[in-house]
Amino acid sequence: MKKKSTVLLVVLAMVLAGVFTGCGSGGSSDSGGEDQVKIGLVQLVEHPSLDTIRENILAQLEEEGYKDGETAVIDYQNAQNEQANLKTICQKFVSDKCDVIIAITTPAAQAAFGETKDIPIIFSAVTDPVEAQLVEDFNAPGGNITGTSDLVAADKIMDLALKITPDVKTIGALYNSSEVNSVSVVDDLKDYAKKNGLKVEEAAVTNSSEIQQAAQSLAGKCDAVFSPIDNTVASAMSVASDVFVKAKVPFYVGADSMVADGGLATYGINYESLGTETAKMAAEVLKGADTATMAVRVMDDMQAYINQKTADALKIEIPEAVKKDATNLGE
Ligand code: TRP
Repeated sequence: MKKKSTVLLVVLAMVLAGVFTGCGSGGSSDSGGEDQVKIGLVQLVEHPSLDTIRENILAQLEEEGYKDGETAVIDYQNAQNEQANLKTICQKFVSDKCDVIIAITTPAAQAAFGETKDIPIIFSAVTDPVEAQLVEDFNAPGGNITGTSDLVAADKIMDLALKITPDVKTIGALYNSSEVNSVSVVDDLKDYAKKNGLKVEEAAVTNSSEIQQAAQSLAGKCDAVFSPIDNTVASAMSVASDVFVKAKVPFYVGADSMVADGGLATYGINYESLGTETAKMAAEVLKGADTATMAVRVMDDMQAYINQKTADALKIEIPEAVKKDATNLGE
């Protein structure tokens, strides 16, 4: 009760102050105009892959009949890689009574889920939603949250890595240890290494300012380095790839955008389709579908991506058998 009246007071104060922003904007709030849907869209940070996902979400939402400023109010917020911002943004989505929250990345989804167990949440590109404690099971999420996953087995990337550089014995793991999406994949890497007689050297960072030093330490003791689908590394790819190119160490990564940004290769999904699929799920929920029973969707259009420019700089010959099925992202 107490909570309700506080919310009412805050809403009243906002109305009096003439504040009509965010999900509550467009004159659609509780005083009528019920046909305008309110969508909160939160993104952890700006890096090329997440921007691609967001653009495709917005395009598909429009396709589904949710156009910002017309049929919908889409409140897009970027947290600039700050946990505290994620919380504030999601709290506002809840107090604005969004009809659905779309959360891009694992940390964003965790923040949204931390704020509401009522408003449906559709996450986008969450690598391991079970490990992140967002859903009980890929096929039966069980609560107010479901979405798309960009899970790719570390094995697939490592198989590709060993085709390109078969002599690798020690592999570095560069990642942010507070990103569940990365920890889960690095665990898989360790299993793979054990089975294949490789040694893993870890360099865990907590933010992008530590990338340069961590990369340098790995470059000194590894034959190759691997980064999972890690937001912190993706935000500092130019720094990391510079270090590894100079040290002539092949750098295998988790996502196509990280290859475009100087990584040597990955085996991964198409993030444009992932964004599209995320918006389709949001539209289904807005039309009444239940998140609890809506399975998490995984992408099946996986392929190899290489960066020929990086390969040339490293003086590595990518085998023809790899090249013929790969997309080159390094002009
Ligand atoms: N999968 C990441 C997560 O769970 C988000 C992500 C999507 C990402 N595309 C990426 C991270 C590309 C790094 C690079 O949070």
